[in-house]
Amino acid sequence: MPQHLAVETLGGGVRLITLQRPQALNALTTALLAELAQALAEAEADPHTQVVVLTGNRKAFAAGADLKEMAERDLTGILNDPRQSSWEQIRRFSKPLIAAVNGFALGGGCELAMHADIIIAGEDARFGQPEINLGIMPGAGGTQRLPRTVGKSLAMQMVLTGEAIDARHALRAGLVSEVTQPELVVERALQLARLIAGKAPLALRLAKEALLKAMDTDLASGLRLERHAFTVLAGTRDREEGIAAFQEKRPAQFSGH
Ligand code: HXC
Repeated sequence: MPQHLAVETLGGGVRLITLQRPQALNALTTALLAELAQALAEAEADPHTQVVVLTGNRKAFAAGADLKEMAERDLTGILNDPRQSSWEQIRRFSKPLIAAVNGFALGGGCELAMHADIIIAGEDARFGQPEINLGIMPGAGGTQRLPRTVGKSLAMQMVLTGEAIDARHALRAGLVSEVTQPELVVERALQLARLIAGKAPLALRLAKEALLKAMDTDLASGLRLERHAFTVLAGTRDREEGIAAFQEKRPAQFSGH
């Protein structure tokens, strides 16, 4: 049983993972990250789970790496420690992942939100990379995902000043796709998750892979990957089912084959 997060299987192909270290604003300890990686590995292996929603609480999604733990550690070892392999496992999660963010998403917390495929934010959410104030810099993808998402100028501003941006700014910059009232964030994320969970699993997986590829490849390679994925899906039973359902004016029942 995980100690620092709650995992709920909600039916309809959706799992909700809630970070639960409220006393430290969900700061990411090595143990918490390992539990999260494990929870995602279990969701990955479960054929009944199609989409995962990841959230924190009203005050914080996650306020970054746990600074008490970091104070006791040799930072030079951090790239080889279990925390990095947990990040790697989180990165490799191949089903759709939605972050429902209220309050602080700082440092590793902002980087964790950026591991999600879709971010829904409450009006009071704050996204920032304050590592520079600690004499360090982002270490879980912040310097790479942020500029790819919000552009160079804002990414530089956030990383070099350490100042956070609010939810509306994050929306304008494309870091999040929707802003809702704080009390509706999780519900909206679950609504999207249920919608996505009804789609063909293979199509979801390959569409996610192709979209992520767009972040780190040239157009020609991306188009090649897309064409290949499209061809793979063309040979699936779910493609036949999707088109048959359209013609028969009924909802599609996808099997994942
Ligand atoms: C450990 C933390 C914490 C953190 C907050 N807490 N952030 N503990 N690690 N990152 C603890 C506080 O010590 C305090 O516990 C409790 O949570 C409530 O926090 P307060 O500071 O009292 O709340 P508030 O005044 O509302 O300020 C909120 C805050 C501030 C602005 C978010 O807590 C803050 O600046 N936190 C640090 C944010 C940060 O620098 N994150 C980046 C970390 S570096 P006690 O017991 O003292 O009352 C990083 C690198 C990633 O993420 C590298 C990845 C490989």
